[in-house]
Amino acid sequence: MTSVVPARTSAELIGAEEPVLAHNYHPLPVVVARAEGTWVEDVEGRRYLDMLAGYSALNFGHRHPALVEAAHRQLDRLTLTSRAFHNDRLAEFAERLAALTGLDMVLPMNTGAEAVESAVKVVRKWAYDVKGVPADRATIVVAADNFHGRTTTIVSFSTDEVARAGFGPFTPGFRVVPYNDLAALRDAVDETTAAVLIEPVQGEAGVVVPDDGYLAGVRELTRRAGCLFVADEIQSGLGRTGRTLAVEHESVVPDVVLLGKALGGGIVPVSAVVARREVLQVLHPGEHGSTFGGNPLAAAVGTAVVELLETGEFQRRAADLGGVLREGLEALTGNGVVGFRTRGLWAGVDVDPAIGTGREVSERLMREGILVKDTHGSTIRLAPPLTITEEELRGALRILEKVLGRV
Ligand SMILES: Cc1ncc(COP(=O)(O)O)c(C=O)c1O
Repeated sequence: MTSVVPARTSAELIGAEEPVLAHNYHPLPVVVARAEGTWVEDVEGRRYLDMLAGYSALNFGHRHPALVEAAHRQLDRLTLTSRAFHNDRLAEFAERLAALTGLDMVLPMNTGAEAVESAVKVVRKWAYDVKGVPADRATIVVAADNFHGRTTTIVSFSTDEVARAGFGPFTPGFRVVPYNDLAALRDAVDETTAAVLIEPVQGEAGVVVPDDGYLAGVRELTRRAGCLFVADEIQSGLGRTGRTLAVEHESVVPDVVLLGKALGGGIVPVSAVVARREVLQVLHPGEHGSTFGGNPLAAAVGTAVVELLETGEFQRRAADLGGVLREGLEALTGNGVVGFRTRGLWAGVDVDPAIGTGREVSERLMREGILVKDTHGSTIRLAPPLTITEEELRGALRILEKVLGRV
């Protein structure tokens, strides 16, 4: 006999999490039960416009029909082999992803942090095998206020004390310079430098867009210094900024591009290190791996994601609607907004601290049917699915105006 468990309310479910779930997050008090496209619905049937999109993991919206169909088809056929054997989906995924990014080779992983960790290993190996850096002397130059994930090596080069405190000892071999500062970068790079690793737009820092010329400057500087340029496009990539990759705004091709989040279409975790052949070919069997990396389900969904991006439609939408977003935020500047930064359909909005913290504003927006997330202090981040309609976006901006108007 099947027993019927009575449905629990949002409040009951939030209360039930408390004693059993690690407290490493402070979610907004909304319990999502269903979603489609740009909309999510909570346990009580209240609807919300998703203006966060899983930190850009849902660039194509919730349950995009083409992605769900690709997943269903693959679920019915083959889901996992491990890399002990070949699977019939991986070659196409790698070929098409390499072509999409203009690079040569792909190392498939699962989460964003794993892609970053993998890149750290790959560029170090490249420094020893190709550049000739003495053993264990390789350095990687990174930017202050970076966010590349949560593993021990990655927090070793974070400048966020909350992310680091209590987790030492840390991995050596990293130099931190201010973001958007080519002179500081030039001073930090030397003959031990394997790579410069930066986000083309710093997402978690509050959608910080560097000055025009910075990314091209990093490309030029790394080329001259004989080290690699690694662009972490895990949040900025795959359509979000109005281009396939954010580095395209300056016509830059890095040596290594890190992808994640939207690469799994909001269905499965899929990440990848995509690089020039000279770089990724330093890996040999046994030196790196992942049980789930490159699994056929991930490859099928990832291929369907690449297929959506090959049309150019999502990049165009992000660029066009990004204009609407920017205009809307310009109109709010001085009216509750004290500053903002946008790149495509992505914005960091600094709200007047007199109105409330980012968290308080996020909670007020939630009560008005809009889901966003604060970053630091009084900054909120807007990153809706790229499938959002202009009408939905304008509606969200009207609600933001209403919420910010309430001092
Ligand atoms: C730029 C960047 N790199 C890496 C990561 C880590 O990705 P994940 O949470 O999948 O490990 C994130 C996550 O927010 C990110 O924004």
